Amino acid sequence: MLVDQFNRKINYLRVSVTDRCDFRCVYCMSEKMTFMAKSDLLSLEEIARVIRIFNGLGVEKVRITGGEPLVRKNIDWLFQTINKENNLKELTLTTNGSQLKNKASMLKKSGVERINISLDSLNPDIFKRMTRIGRLNKVLEGIKHAKKIGFKKIKLNVVLMKNLNGFEVFNLVDFAIDSGFDISFIEEMPLGGTQFNRSETSVSNDDILSSLQNHYQLSESSFTTGGPANYWQVKNSRTKIGLISPHSHNFCGTCNRVRISCKGELFLCLGHEEKIELLPLIKANPYDDSPIIEAIINSMKLKPESHTFDLSDNQPAVIRFMSHTGG
Ligand code: 5AD
Ligand code: SF4
Repeated sequence: MLVDQFNRKINYLRVSVTDRCDFRCVYCMSEKMTFMAKSDLLSLEEIARVIRIFNGLGVEKVRITGGEPLVRKNIDWLFQTINKENNLKELTLTTNGSQLKNKASMLKKSGVERINISLDSLNPDIFKRMTRIGRLNKVLEGIKHAKKIGFKKIKLNVVLMKNLNGFEVFNLVDFAIDSGFDISFIEEMPLGGTQFNRSETSVSNDDILSSLQNHYQLSESSFTTGGPANYWQVKNSRTKIGLISPHSHNFCGTCNRVRISCKGELFLCLGHEEKIELLPLIKANPYDDSPIIEAIINSMKLKPESHTFDLSDNQPAVIRFMSHTGG
């Protein structure tokens, strides 16, 4: 069992399997991205090994993220292998939905029960402006297909930005209610080298909540993932609305997660640079897990008590892209 110095049990691992993506969302990437060389990435076999090691240390929830995980070559093999080799309570995926038409059935067969899909707009023009190159139609088609296949839960993730999709709150929530999905609004986080003035674009979750409360009948839900979201149940529906406020610190006390980047760095907190390089250890010890296990156990001492994001300071808190660490 992994326990950090603040007595938090770490049972949740998020793994970024690629920094590449077929979208270039304005809050996530710059227009011209330089992606990592394939040779710098963990191989799929190495990712599977790391997950197996964490599972042996008591991690029972794994989320596959990116970048866009489903654009990584042979990703089917990874899902199938994770499913076969581990004893997990939950294997989940965060995706932009563009590949779901082809991949949903493989995911379901590999034991994935819950999927988070990013959907920032239902307006094709605004969707295009936010993702720069994404096509709304393809994503909606993927979502429809995933719904048909029948996952236990599908959740939509929305980043609201003033002057872009800021007016679509009710539209998006209505879509979620009609589809039986949950929906989360994520406050934009100051990560990476995206070039615009964040204090001018960010929409606060307090404002979203008060307009939602005027429009829907909501009751506060006790549901929690140990993460930075508060959930509200929409009356007479299957839909919970999550408000994810990375700028508030009050969730750090129950943090249960660590992250592996696509380069094999073990990050202890999304808002801090503290990390352990697992890749060299993995390469140097192809048949012996013990040095890797020892490094992971030791890393627990490095997990910070809380993060510090400051919106007023227009500098990114951490100079790395979300697609590298995994959202
Ligand atoms: N701030 C907030 N959310 C972000 N995402 C990507 N970059 C950022 C950011 N800078 C979101 C994506 C996806 C989720 C994993 O993280 O929209 O839904
Ligand atoms: Fe791709 Fe997700 Fe980043 Fe958008 S937010 S560019 S979909 S990784």
